[in-house]
Amino acid sequence: MKQQTVTEIFKNPPLDKKITVCGWVRTRRNSGSLTFIELSDGSCLSSLQVVAESDLANFETEVKKLTTGCAIKVSGLLVSSPAKGQDIELRALSIEVLGWADPADYPLQKKRHSFEFLRSIAHLRPRTNALGAVARIRSVLSFGIHEFFVRRNFYQVHTPVITTLDCEGAGEMFTVTSLKPERLQSGNSFAEDFFGRRAGLTVSGQLQAEVYALALGRVYTFGPTFRAENSNTSRHLAEFWMLEPEMAFCDLGCNMEVAESLIRNLVARVLETCADDLALFDRFVSKGLVKKLETVRDVDFAHMDYASAIEILTDSRRQFEYPVFWGMDMQAEHERFLCEEVAGCPVIVTNYPKEIKPFYMRLDEEGKTVAAMDILVPGIGELVGGSQREERYDELLARMIEAGLDVDEYAWYLDLRKYGSVVHSGFGLGFERLVQLVTGMANIRDVIPFPRTPGSASC
Ligand code: 4AD
Repeated sequence: MKQQTVTEIFKNPPLDKKITVCGWVRTRRNSGSLTFIELSDGSCLSSLQVVAESDLANFETEVKKLTTGCAIKVSGLLVSSPAKGQDIELRALSIEVLGWADPADYPLQKKRHSFEFLRSIAHLRPRTNALGAVARIRSVLSFGIHEFFVRRNFYQVHTPVITTLDCEGAGEMFTVTSLKPERLQSGNSFAEDFFGRRAGLTVSGQLQAEVYALALGRVYTFGPTFRAENSNTSRHLAEFWMLEPEMAFCDLGCNMEVAESLIRNLVARVLETCADDLALFDRFVSKGLVKKLETVRDVDFAHMDYASAIEILTDSRRQFEYPVFWGMDMQAEHERFLCEEVAGCPVIVTNYPKEIKPFYMRLDEEGKTVAAMDILVPGIGELVGGSQREERYDELLARMIEAGLDVDEYAWYLDLRKYGSVVHSGFGLGFERLVQLVTGMANIRDVIPFPRTPGSASC
């Protein structure tokens, strides 16, 4: 490309050279015979100051009419800035207007807009400082995930989006059908549907990832996941991205080690490479964010089993909205209390009662709990859910029957326990919750470009 990005210009300023840069006007102000334009191209948080003099051919007719949001192409000389506030500036030799943005109806003006308002303009919100920074950090984290696993000799597996199995057994699958609504209403059986059976959007790629872990050893799948759960909370989406590593010859302890080192590695990467964007969040969104992230990076995660967690919650005498008792499914308020007020760092809780966890988790010796582990983080609660898998055929079959599953549907999954079955484990990390942790953004709808939640799927 002929033009340079603002990031490239700031990284290695080609001083006293002629350059071309394209972007959108953030602000423009006049000073004497000059006009100053803050130009942003989205490649980084900073904008480049462009100085235009009145001798430009289109100065009166166009340059002086530029407003926030207009797209321009500037060619000019990059020089050291004599004024305070910036080290370099671009002295314009020509400014071409690529696209106007009528200030009478362009919704993004210089003032700060609420995140609620920005949600109503998902097609424009990435142009704001905060949502642009979220998008860049999201991309850095995504790349970091691939690099982390590739460096550790994992292979990526592309698991299907359309599936017939509800891995988590919570009945939250969206149905996929090609039948016309009238035929569905007339009680048509799924035998006549596209796949000849009921199919849906995946709630997890884990079961298929297990197939590949038991062939390639270490694998991971990372993609969109769908859940029709009616949870209108700041940490639930109907479509979210999940990372799911699966490892053969790896028990619960090994699983926890991989998950903890992944999270710490990703946080370290963002601290190292996204300092400007993090400083913005620290200042305007979540005070003390950088310090909190440094703790995640530097301090070993706390460990406790489910029974101890219940004991701590009970002994705290804290008035929780949801009552605390052995056998309960912990809510965000309990999870956050454990890591924010008890441990002061992320907490790994293990060995949950089997009744509140899916059928595939390995039964512990005394038969009451399973080899599960959840990682809870400050500000959010559960970030990771994982387990050692039940690798014993008879035990798995018994758990499936107990859970009321159609065993024939899972014949292939049972086969894995018939032929060369081995200890294996894995986990699921909610990618949006990770982005929330790293940016301090309070609402999960603001860390995915186009959120899908109950009653909302526009743009
Ligand atoms: O605990 P979950 O349901 O685990 C699984 O799906 C396993 N099959 C994973 C595995 O072992 N391979 O989900 C894993 C993580 C949660 O800890 C949470 O971070 C995220 O996925 N998650 C959601 N994120 C956003 N919106 C939702 N509705 C979510 N449900 C789960």
